[in-house]
Amino acid sequence: MDKISVLFVCLGNICRSPAAEAIFLKIIEDRGIKEKFIVDSAGTGSWHVGKEADGRMKLAAKNRNINIKSKARQIKREDFHRFNYILTMDNSNYIDVLKIKNSESSEDDSKVIKLQDFASDFANKEVPDPYFGGDDGFNNVLDILEDSVSGFLKSLL
Ligand code: 4NP
Repeated sequence: MDKISVLFVCLGNICRSPAAEAIFLKIIEDRGIKEKFIVDSAGTGSWHVGKEADGRMKLAAKNRNINIKSKARQIKREDFHRFNYILTMDNSNYIDVLKIKNSESSEDDSKVIKLQDFASDFANKEVPDPYFGGDDGFNNVLDILEDSVSGFLKSLL
């Protein structure tokens, strides 16, 4: 069976999408199904390309036994051919990602979906940008991500 490929996308790729990627990886590792997936994350912006995730997010995640290891990169056209699912964090990312997807006439099979659609405890809530806020914001993002990322996995299995 072909692997299922999943790309999480936010603005900077240093806070929300690397955390979503790490949470997804932890769940599939714990469940012994890691081999079925290709998982990555990217940002719509390029400011932080090559950098590790924000230290505040890494620390908040580490306190939950989640290790964020990825380095930031910017989403590119090729991603729409490489990934089955492209999951965005907020409405603004969603619109930006769709613009890139539709900027070329070539067809691709990727599905662009708002991650918030899979939340049950945080229904209809965007994953808010924690970058300019306090430490509480990072924990709030992790709560929303744990809910919505596991909801997304459930929808696949
Ligand atoms: P992220 O958070 O999109 O969750 O990675 C942000 C990181 C950096 C910036 C904005 C949001 N920034 O403006 O540099």
